[in-house]
Amino acid sequence: MSATWEPEPHGFATAQVHAGASPDGDHGARIPPIHLTAGFVFEDFDTARDRFAGEADGYTYTRMGNPTVEAVERRIQVLEGGLGALLVASGQAAVTTALLALAGSGDHLVVSSAIYEGTRGLVRDDLGRLGIAVDFIDDPLDLAAWRAAIRPETRALFTESIANPGTDLVDTGAIAALGREHGVPLVVDSTFATPYLFRPAEHGAAVVVHSASKFLAGHGAALGGVVVDGGFDYPAERFPHLHAPHPSLGGDSFAGRYGRQALGAYARGVVAPRFGPVLSPLSAFVIQLGIETLSLRMARQTASALALATWLAEQPAVERVDHAALPGSRHLELARRDFPRGVGAVFSFTVRGGEPAARAVLGAVRLASHMTHVGDVRTLLLHPATTSHAQRTPEERRAGGVEDGTLRISVGIEELEDLRADLGRALDAATAATSPDRERESAAAAVA
Ligand SMILES: Cc1ncc(COP(=O)(O)O)c(C=O)c1O
Repeated sequence: MSATWEPEPHGFATAQVHAGASPDGDHGARIPPIHLTAGFVFEDFDTARDRFAGEADGYTYTRMGNPTVEAVERRIQVLEGGLGALLVASGQAAVTTALLALAGSGDHLVVSSAIYEGTRGLVRDDLGRLGIAVDFIDDPLDLAAWRAAIRPETRALFTESIANPGTDLVDTGAIAALGREHGVPLVVDSTFATPYLFRPAEHGAAVVVHSASKFLAGHGAALGGVVVDGGFDYPAERFPHLHAPHPSLGGDSFAGRYGRQALGAYARGVVAPRFGPVLSPLSAFVIQLGIETLSLRMARQTASALALATWLAEQPAVERVDHAALPGSRHLELARRDFPRGVGAVFSFTVRGGEPAARAVLGAVRLASHMTHVGDVRTLLLHPATTSHAQRTPEERRAGGVEDGTLRISVGIEELEDLRADLGRALDAATAATSPDRERESAAAAVA
C-alpha cells in the first residue's frame, strides 16, 4: 500500500475510504489520528516566522489548520470534485462563511425560497442587519425570475440542490450559467444530496456547502459544515476585496495569487480564522468515519425512501406525498436528468385530518424518532408546520408544500418492512384519532 493516495483512477466508494488518508508518519496508524491540540510547537525561530508568513508548510494553531481536519477536507474535496474544501463547526457556519466571503454591507444576494429555514432567517435577518440585502425567488424553477433579480450589487445566487421538506429540485446548470453571464457565483447547499447523488461543481456551481452533521457524518453524533471551492472567475467590479492587496499576502491580492480559487483561499485565510467557527478535530474524525460508508448508506436510504413514498401514496390516510421521483411530480424531469442515483432519503407526506392526524402519527410511531435532524442511519420524523417552518406565515408554508398535516421523514437504514409496519400502525392511529372529524367533514361536504 502506498502512503499517498491518487484520486484519479478510483471510483466513489474507493475515494470515500482512501482519499486524504495516509498512514500516520510516526506510528503507522491506519486511521488518521485525532490531533486534539490547540497549537503546534515550532522547531525554531525561523520556522515560526515563516509559518506565520505562509512561506513554510506546517501548522501553527488549530483555528488556522489541523492535520485531522485537513485529511477530512481533502476527502470531501475529492468526493465533490472541487478545488479545495474548508471544514467548519456546523452547516450554518459553512453557509455563513461562504456568504461573508462573498458579500459585505451594500451588497445583495438572490436566494431560492425553497431552503432550510435557518438559512432563510440568516440571509433575511442577520445578514440583513449587516447591510446585505436579499431577494427571494418564490419559484426556483423560474429562470426569468432569477435573471430579473440580478443587480450590479449582487454577489451570489443561492440554492439547495434538493430542498427540504418535499425534495424540490432546481436546474443547477442553468442557474450557474446565468450567474456566469453576470459574473455572479452560484452557491449550492447540497446537504440533502451529498456528493454521492449530485456534484454541483460539475454543473457550474462556484461554491458548494454542506451541513456535514447530516448524511456526511451519518450517525447523528457530530455537527460540522463544509465549504467546497468549485472555482470561479471573480470579476473585480463585483469582488473588489478579492482583487485588492491583502495584508496577509504581503501585498498580493487573493485573485492575483489564487486565480479561480480566490474565494476558497479567502474563506480559509480570512473569514474562517477571523470569525472563528472552528471544527473540533474530534468531530472531524467522527465525520470522516461517517463518510467511509456514505455511498452504502445513501444508496440504501434513497431506495428505501422511494419505496416508502410509493407505498405511502397508496395509503387512504395519506392525502399527498411530495417526492421528486414520484410520477406526477413537477420535478420528475430534473430528477431523471440530474439525479440518476435518486433524490435522497428525505421527503414529506401529508396525512388527512390536519394537525390532529399528524400529532397522532408522531404519538404512535415506535421505530421512527420524533426529532429535528435528517441524514441519520435511524429514521426520523418531524412536523414542520409547528417546528422547522413555524416562523413562516401559513401562506408561506402552503407555498412551500407544508400543510398542517405534513410530516417530514428522513429514512434510515432499517429494514423496509419494519418501517412500513411502523408507519402503517401510525397511519391507523391517525385515522382512528380523526375519524369523527372526517365523518363531520364529509357530512358537511355532502350537505354543501
Ligand atoms: C439544508 C441544510 N443546510 C444547513 C443546515 C444547518 O446545518 P447545521 O445544523 O449543521 O448547522 C441544515 C440543518 O438542518 C440543513 O438542513
